[in-house]
Amino acid sequence: MPRSDSDPTQAPSDRVGPIEPVEDLQAFCRRVLERGDLESKLAPPLDASGRSLPDRPSGPMLDLERPARDPGLRMRGGAERLPRPGQLVDPAHRATCLARFAHHELMAVELFAWALLRWPDLPGPLRRGLVTALADEQRHCRLYLERLAEHGGDFERDDHSDYFWRHAAAIAASPHGARAFLAAMGLTLEQANLDFTLTYRDGFAAAGDAASAAVCQQVHDDEIGHVALAARWLGRIGEASSTTTHSPLDLYLECVPFPLGPARAKGRRFEVSPRRRAGLDATLIEHVRRARSSQERSRPGDGAGAAPIDPGASTTAELPEA
Ligand SMILES: [Fe+2]
Ligand SMILES: [Fe+2]
Repeated sequence: MPRSDSDPTQAPSDRVGPIEPVEDLQAFCRRVLERGDLESKLAPPLDASGRSLPDRPSGPMLDLERPARDPGLRMRGGAERLPRPGQLVDPAHRATCLARFAHHELMAVELFAWALLRWPDLPGPLRRGLVTALADEQRHCRLYLERLAEHGGDFERDDHSDYFWRHAAAIAASPHGARAFLAAMGLTLEQANLDFTLTYRDGFAAAGDAASAAVCQQVHDDEIGHVALAARWLGRIGEASSTTTHSPLDLYLECVPFPLGPARAKGRRFEVSPRRRAGLDATLIEHVRRARSSQERSRPGDGAGAAPIDPGASTTAELPEA
């Protein structure tokens, strides 16, 4: 598949033009993916009058490996480590976390746009739910960037791990289609974020940064809706019989693309309540709670309650079985 990174030979001022209004959702999603600048990616899905964009799904299925990114936003491979919550008393560590979290949100924006273009035939209510989630991710990104600016940080000088995008090829190759996307994004990465947002909310609060803690809380509250969207629709699309022949857990395990899976759908601090509020099935919650990564399984002496994910890592942390 072709890569679509911006032309590095162009000066940034040549690439960032005015943000043109778009006529429909498809043009909006293409702008998110094909423009490399941040403002184009964070412009809300509205027309010139501030109204919702019409959804006119048509054309061939999108075949895109990576979104366009201007030089300061380029993604890199490799592991991403975050400061631990206890280190947030240091403003430099807070700035690192805020930049990383903003980038997670930016990748989520792009991947929701990618999904909307890739699967044009999804039911209207699900597509509207994905647009709402995309707009939430744009807002979250801006909130983290505002907090980063308060710390004097520069988003374009931080590393940008491609962890979310690294899973796009497996999602695209999955025989489960959009169900693989819902299982990967909503029921793994976003489910894990239910834990991480509270861990870092409390870390920021303990460090005296109430404003950043409030952003984590807002992201957490919205994330419940995003997880609920995936849980609600996973069994409703694809094979007609899936809801009657599969439990929610079986369906998740069948559709989630490797190496994502239950061990990556949580943080060390496991929060049952938001999972219940998202409508996750009790058996699925318990399975995720008990799941252990392959590294933990090979580590002698680890009990069932051992942490599956390093608390210093984020939803985009590099985990051992990748
Ligand atoms: Fe978000
Ligand atoms: Fe989300």
